[in-house]
Amino acid sequence: MQSADHVIADRLAEASATSVQSTMDPEVRTATKPEFGHFQSNLPLRLGRALGVAPARAAADILAVLDVSDICLPPEIAGPGFLNFRLSPQYLADYLTRIADDPRLGVPQALTPERIVLDYSGPNVAKVMHVAHLRSTVIGDALSRLLEFAGHQVIRQNHIGDWGTPFGMLIEQLRDEHATTTDLAALSALYRRARARFDTEPEFADRARSRVVALQRGDERTRADWRRLVETSLDGFDDMYRHLGVALTKADAVGESAYNDDLPVLAAELDRLGLLTESAGAGCVFPPGFRGRDGRPLPVIIRKSDGGFGYSATDLAAIRHRVDTLHADRLIYVVGAPQALHFDQVFAVARQAGWLPAEVRAEHVTFGTVLDETGKPIKSRTGEAVPLQSLLQTAESAAADLLAQRSTGDVAELAAMIGVGAVKYADLSAGRARDYVFAVDRLVALDGNTGPYLQYAHARLCSLLRRAGEAAAESPATSAAALDDPAEVRLAFVLTRFPAAVTATLETLEPHRLCGYLYELATAISTFYERCPVLADTVPDTVRNQRLALCTSAERTLKRGLDFLAIPAPGTM
Ligand code: ARG
Repeated sequence: MQSADHVIADRLAEASATSVQSTMDPEVRTATKPEFGHFQSNLPLRLGRALGVAPARAAADILAVLDVSDICLPPEIAGPGFLNFRLSPQYLADYLTRIADDPRLGVPQALTPERIVLDYSGPNVAKVMHVAHLRSTVIGDALSRLLEFAGHQVIRQNHIGDWGTPFGMLIEQLRDEHATTTDLAALSALYRRARARFDTEPEFADRARSRVVALQRGDERTRADWRRLVETSLDGFDDMYRHLGVALTKADAVGESAYNDDLPVLAAELDRLGLLTESAGAGCVFPPGFRGRDGRPLPVIIRKSDGGFGYSATDLAAIRHRVDTLHADRLIYVVGAPQALHFDQVFAVARQAGWLPAEVRAEHVTFGTVLDETGKPIKSRTGEAVPLQSLLQTAESAAADLLAQRSTGDVAELAAMIGVGAVKYADLSAGRARDYVFAVDRLVALDGNTGPYLQYAHARLCSLLRRAGEAAAESPATSAAALDDPAEVRLAFVLTRFPAAVTATLETLEPHRLCGYLYELATAISTFYERCPVLADTVPDTVRNQRLALCTSAERTLKRGLDFLAIPAPGTM
């Protein structure tokens, strides 16, 4: 089913070809103001300039042959060469009938389903997840749900930092303290104590270094300690994923250590391909086109001068695994903007080496930083990255305060849904590439572009539909005659735009586009709710049925959207 704006664009193109022999793109856009209708085109304006005629003349010529009467009211010529289109009540009513039994709500299936490896979250062992992992986790999770709904096969990969030099000091500290690895928070504290000693006690630092060597050599007891650290951390990440309502499970965790055996093989192959260069004792690849500030070629370090392999080598091995073993058609990495150069370089080396064939797309989906209210990257009082847990707690207690003023029932559970939803929505609705300010009062507010505002619009519809009971379940066919209040028309029109919003989000991998749409939908719902009585005795049956059908579709669409974002949608608030 073609969307209305595409039908209008096609007809306009045809009409302008026959009337004024133009092949210009009609550029049909959603109108920026209600008085401009639903869609607008400035084709007459551009034609006027190109052909040297008055835009009004060009508009009249096109309208003389244009026929959109099956979907629109008669188009209007407006301003200096614009055409305004308003969808007809009949079209809108038919649309509502059509989606009433469409589980996809008009969203098309992908024409060519792909196997997509989606790399997101990526926390580090023995460190509680902090705010940068929030963004990767919630953006990645939303994208995974959207891509799956579109019909793609998504393979989630949680590239956990579970290897490297910190494990030497962690294990030594663990042993010195005779500590048991109870939970992730305790491990984070252990990590801090270990780091402090590593920086001040040479004897401890030496032991830590030899412990790394033992770990790499595969010493049994050392490995066992390491495994305990990893397991405890994975449990902690799992708790966080459950708390956030994120789809990741332990089965998706493929730590950096999983690639250890492949690293020497990979280095040897780069060498054989003639790509590996010795530079200051390290084994490097210099992919073409990368230069440092000083203008010198910028290396990708494969083997460090101490013989160990690092982050880049591991990511190269991961690419080989994802392409050769997982048979990915497309690789997506949801990682913060500071790693942009890393991914550019790693992709370039993988292409040079022939590990990333031209037909496999590799994309770094970047995101900006979370700032505090003074505009600086958000930090805890001690200057460390803020643990995600404490952000969620702040939001949940703000939500509990909000609820205390109004509602009854299980406040704690509802506060958790609102708090988590608020944090996730604030993150997802901020343009991906931009930094955003974490202002707890604003993001749990019940008005404005917030999670709770969307949840509230949804809950109100749910309670209305509950009250309507049976009548809603039957949801009789809509009659166009009844769709006439501007708020009804507006809501119906916004519902027709859902597929376009989902498609745009998938094309750009930018969840804020879907958020922007859902905010528009929630606003249309609120206006409708305030202006158009549904269940009142004074409302004639035909009107009530029409409005119930609208409410049902609006509730389903908003719920579908919140599900994509994995934001809870409570039935009462
Ligand atoms: N552990 C990394 C970090 O905390 C993120 C991993 C991202 N994924 C990857 N394949 N490099 O920065």
